[in-house]
Amino acid sequence: TRILVLISGSGSNLQAILDGCAQGRIDGQVVAVISNKADAYGLVRAKHAGVAAEVLAHQGFESREAYDAALMARIDSHQPDLIVLAGFMRILTGDLVRHYQGRMLNIHPSLLPKYQGLHTHQRAIEAGDKEHGASVHFVTEELDGGPVVLQARVPIFPEDEASDVAARVQVQEHSLYPLVVQWFCQGRLRCDATGAWLDGELL
Ligand code: GRF
Repeated sequence: TRILVLISGSGSNLQAILDGCAQGRIDGQVVAVISNKADAYGLVRAKHAGVAAEVLAHQGFESREAYDAALMARIDSHQPDLIVLAGFMRILTGDLVRHYQGRMLNIHPSLLPKYQGLHTHQRAIEAGDKEHGASVHFVTEELDGGPVVLQARVPIFPEDEASDVAARVQVQEHSLYPLVVQWFCQGRLRCDATGAWLDGELL
């Protein structure tokens, strides 16, 4: 399975997937990493792993549609089977999302459908939640709204700050995401208009 990862930042989830491939826990290979930010540390991680690391900066494009058309061309040049969003901090156009329907995954740092969008850890704390987490979901045109495949839960303690919760969630993300990617690579996972399916069962 040819995996392409989109990032904007640190790329710790990318690292977890690279490690999973290197250690045989994922039956696939990361064929390229594309970042919209030139200084994303994830690009260094890709190079260390011997993976093509590319930058497609969004500055200079006259519209979101123009950027996404260029991004799609770049992605397709690598002929990936699976597109993995790992901290890619851009809203994607409907054209792009439809183009990769059923083969694009995202990880979101909340127990979806709670806290779509940004600042999820702070929002969970302010709501008084005792529990928080991360969700891997298929990407559809609804932002952070596609069918959830798997979630990991963490506690929120009374004295926690957002950074404490974020760190606790990230540890879980690093086992959650490689597991779901492996399900996809094994052909066990699919997505249609009804939802996400694992081994023929609706999730
Ligand atoms: C993760 O917490 C993920 O849930 C969110 O962005 C963060 C990316 O972190 N979408 P990293 O770049 O993988 O370290």
